[in-house]
Amino acid sequence: MSEETITIGWRAPSNIALIKYWGKRANQLPENGSLSITLDKSTTTTYLSFQKKKAGDQNISLRYFFHGVQQSQFEKKTRELLNSLLTEMPFLADYELVFKSENNFPHSTGIASSASSMSALALCLVSMEEKVTGNQLKHEDFYQRGSIIARLGSGSASRSLYGGIVTWGTIPSIDQSSDDYATPFLFPGESRLNRVMDIILIVSSKEKAVSSSKGHALMKAHPYREGRKDQANANMAEITNAIRNNDYQTIALISENEALSLHALLMTSGPEGLLLKPDTLHIIEEIKLFRETSGLDLFYTIDAGPNVHLIYYEDQREQVLSFVRQTLSPYCEGGQWIDDKIGSGPIQMTS
Ligand code: PMV
Repeated sequence: MSEETITIGWRAPSNIALIKYWGKRANQLPENGSLSITLDKSTTTTYLSFQKKKAGDQNISLRYFFHGVQQSQFEKKTRELLNSLLTEMPFLADYELVFKSENNFPHSTGIASSASSMSALALCLVSMEEKVTGNQLKHEDFYQRGSIIARLGSGSASRSLYGGIVTWGTIPSIDQSSDDYATPFLFPGESRLNRVMDIILIVSSKEKAVSSSKGHALMKAHPYREGRKDQANANMAEITNAIRNNDYQTIALISENEALSLHALLMTSGPEGLLLKPDTLHIIEEIKLFRETSGLDLFYTIDAGPNVHLIYYEDQREQVLSFVRQTLSPYCEGGQWIDDKIGSGPIQMTS
């Protein structure tokens, strides 16, 4: 390989889980299967430039720029990940690496960016591997390898490698499913869930009091640990059936149950586990009331934070938008919400 600098770029989306991954074993393996919707607009774009180093230095050499500013925190996290990958990607130590990354969702919205950023990073690494080894992977193998590497950076990132509805974790009814990587959830016929939309209501943009790594760790000694695994497995079996059968009622019921269960687990984990805010609860109440009075098919889910995702269908967009503007935006910090929808997965950038 010549001494020239090569640049590779990927744009990868965030995702929102309906069945939550909560609790992990060694090497970022999940305690239970999860299922998510890949988003369209909330993305990270990462460019990786690499140039052969002078021989001798066997340490990882990298710089990380986020929105044009060098970020020591990101450098530290990326260095740790790359060090852990050295056995299977030994070439990483042979190059000067420069990452330049940007999120397109507004800054400080409290929206976790680890899924989009780790999946974009993983795709850059797999593309780099192809270039330096000259070994072109088959399409499925490329994304599967990307999913494994993304998982090592952040579990939920493993699902952002694919568009549509995606699962991660070994699930009895899904062939090829694995704890090591995510799998696109394919089902025969047309599902309405494939045209689903998501409005993210920003209740607070402050950094969470409990990081997801801490939350996963708290599950190890959690009094409801075994019960949670049984619940997640049962919810997964029901929701996958419901998606196959276009059974909206069950999808909504299970998704809301998962969101509240995640927070119930958090609240019973430790003293700082209360991440819901009064306005989160106001929004939930308003959504339930609006669903009852309008008869529309919509439901909510919540990540490990106070912000609410309002999931609805494309054909109800106008009514939902006026509901959000009139009733929900007053509960949002600075009236902020993000208008997103189901997306088709990562794209490679031309540099
Ligand atoms: O990927 P992590 O380690 O940030 O964990 C994410 C956990 C949840 O977002 C709460 C649920 C999920 O499955 O995305």
